[in-house]
Amino acid sequence: MSGPSIEAVNLSKRYGSFTALSNLSLKIEGSKCVGFLGPNGAGKTTTLKIFTDMIRASEGKALINGVDVHLNKKQALGSVGALIESPEIYPALTPREALSMIAEIRGLPRAEARKKIEEIVTEVKMNEWLDKKVGKFSKGMKQRINIAAALLSDPEVIMLDEPTTGLDPRGQSEVRDIVKDLKKKNRLVFMSSHLLNEVQEICDEVAMIDHGKLLVYDKLSNVTSRFSGDGSNVVEIELSREIDDQSINKNIASLGGVSSVEKVDSRKIRIHFTGGMQNQESLLQELATMKIGMISFRPTASALEDTYLSLIKDTL
Ligand SMILES: Nc1ncnc2c1ncn2[C@@H]1O[C@H](COP(=O)(O)OP(=O)(O)OP(=O)(O)O)[C@@H](O)[C@H]1O
Ligand SMILES: [Mg+2]
Repeated sequence: MSGPSIEAVNLSKRYGSFTALSNLSLKIEGSKCVGFLGPNGAGKTTTLKIFTDMIRASEGKALINGVDVHLNKKQALGSVGALIESPEIYPALTPREALSMIAEIRGLPRAEARKKIEEIVTEVKMNEWLDKKVGKFSKGMKQRINIAAALLSDPEVIMLDEPTTGLDPRGQSEVRDIVKDLKKKNRLVFMSSHLLNEVQEICDEVAMIDHGKLLVYDKLSNVTSRFSGDGSNVVEIELSREIDDQSINKNIASLGGVSSVEKVDSRKIRIHFTGGMQNQESLLQELATMKIGMISFRPTASALEDTYLSLIKDTL
């Protein structure tokens, strides 16, 4: 099979007469980061808990790399690292001690654990803090250690439930950088979040749910363009210097596929264009040759927000 995969097959979860998840089917394959979006109570944590066999589905099944997490828990979860409800790490312990304890509980041989701990603590950029007491750490640092704990078993699939919630902007950015790096090693990252700009920045694809039902699962760029009404895409470019109106109105507006150009501020413009990936590619090339000081080029967070709000509104 091609890379890691997770699959929900007709998953439903009921609490008494309340339906938290309703016939959810979703298959995600390959090493990528997928954002899992939906309003409070949509069923995100419920889905993640079923995938890690913390709770049982009322109907349907959850598969990791094709293996049923409930029928064959050990094998299925052997390839999963998860951070669902951030545990409090005992403040008197150092990351090395805390992670050694977790490794022991999970049955990792001691020598292997020792090596692995150094490796994962480096991966979450906490190697200089390996032997300092956790009690002195910021929330962001503690969360990075929690992510390290999820990496102990060298998982191919990583599930994170709102990994940056409760962190200050710096903590959020630290954790975001770590999550961005996670997918580099042939891993599938499935991450719930309420932060659309975060999903925009980190994720390749998005799955949205509401009232326990899947609304959409697609590539980020398709999700934002498919729901933008006229089928247009929007990218935002950032510049290192101010741009004049002539360059915007004449030079950029006349590029292939461009339908309109908005100036967000003196160093940021938003370009609406049609024609999908192909035009996006040539647009980026052309902008680069224009030497206008472009320092970033990305789909806008507002495009995802518009999509999110219109999809969620439809299910009210
Ligand atoms: N143990 C439980 N008993 C009864 N209802 C529950 C239980 N756990 C969750 N629910 C309900 O199921 C629904 C889905 O909850 P879930 O925690 O999956 O939502 P969520 O998408 O993670 O929301 P949030 O964004 O607020 O974390 C909610 O309405 C919640 O109240
Ligand atoms: Mg939740």
